[in-house]
Amino acid sequence: MQIDLSEEQRLLRDTCREFADKELRPNAKKWDREHRFPAEAVKKLFELGLGGVAVPSEWGGAGMDNVSYALAIEEISRGCASTGVTLSVNNSLYCDPIAKYGTDGQKESFLTPYARGEKLGCFGLTEPQAGSDAAEQRTTAVRKGDSYLINGTKNWITNGPVADAIVLFTMTDLSKGTKGITCFVVETKTPGFVRQKADEKLGICASPSCTIFFENMEVPISQRLGQEGDGFKIAMSTLDGGRIGIGAQAIGIGRAAFEEARDYSKIRKTFDIPIFQHQAIQFMLADMATALDAARLLVLRAAWLKDQGKRHTRESSMAKLFASEAANRVADKAVQIHGGMGYSKELDVERHFRDARITEIYEGTSEIQRLVISNLLLK
Ligand code: CAA
Repeated sequence: MQIDLSEEQRLLRDTCREFADKELRPNAKKWDREHRFPAEAVKKLFELGLGGVAVPSEWGGAGMDNVSYALAIEEISRGCASTGVTLSVNNSLYCDPIAKYGTDGQKESFLTPYARGEKLGCFGLTEPQAGSDAAEQRTTAVRKGDSYLINGTKNWITNGPVADAIVLFTMTDLSKGTKGITCFVVETKTPGFVRQKADEKLGICASPSCTIFFENMEVPISQRLGQEGDGFKIAMSTLDGGRIGIGAQAIGIGRAAFEEARDYSKIRKTFDIPIFQHQAIQFMLADMATALDAARLLVLRAAWLKDQGKRHTRESSMAKLFASEAANRVADKAVQIHGGMGYSKELDVERHFRDARITEIYEGTSEIQRLVISNLLLK
């Protein structure tokens, strides 16, 4: 694996860092409090080419690699974790499966405008009774001539309240388990697509998610992604990429918490000296920095393998598992270093603590990542 970044990768990282410092960090607290989707900031990031970082330029993307994508998501998430996941879902969970499994016609309609950032996508896999056990879905798609009639419910759909289209997983044969799942791409303005109000959450409060009902929603066969029964493999291979994005998001959140704790430790005094001079604080900061660097190496390894066209299921799960748990430890220590101020809404560190928590849950819990890793170790 190549560790040195190319000129192009460095330039994208630095551009995203500058954008985060200027446009995201000063506003993230307000967006969080108001539960406000930062539409303007997302639009500007899309204008910078962040709608489809690794999507080929012929389909509207920036034509860069997945290492660049991971670097960008880390920097954006350091500024605002909610904005980070908005981009991650559009890139990894929406654009990626269409780029990989879509026909040219599907790419023209459903990939190009989304990779260009003119429209926003979401991903519908989870259902009220089917989270970790993704094969337990009950949304059905019944063939009717040249169309399918879709009925069911998806929940926790990140970007759901504001998305223009969804990559949607359904059962075309309930008796076949993972082999009965079929994927579609559908515009959210399609009759029968019914969004509920946005979810109220502990963290990433500026990233809207919601439940969606499908009520006799008619979708033409031309919008089926792959063949009937291909859906589970499309979902799992898509999540292999998505977990790189969530690992990068976790590192960004952890870095924000670490940097604020480090800076605070230089100005806050106890017993007449800055707390940075106490070994107890120095050791916490050393552990935090080490965990974040280790997490980044795992995330970049998974992204690099994806760029080589190699299977990276195990490496993506390791990266997401380690980075999300590291981010939570780091955010916890950052609150501790801040003492009472860490518990206050006046500073940003309490938000990082809340934002970090979801990274151990969505796109596969830590327990699911351990299951995926251990299953592959035994093969
Ligand atoms: N790539 C390609 N194929 C894969 C694959 C992968 N990564 N993983 C599994 N498959 C294939 C297997 O090879 C197998 O194929 P065959 O039957 O032909 O051999 C088939 O899929 C079934 O595999 P398993 O038997 O391993 O499936 P399982 O039912 O035991 O489930 C699981 C495996 C890992 C637990 C899976 O259900 C899982 O990942 N669950 C977590 C779901 C998840 O991450 N949900 C997140 C929702 S999205 C989200 O969170 C978005 C957001 O808000 C931001």
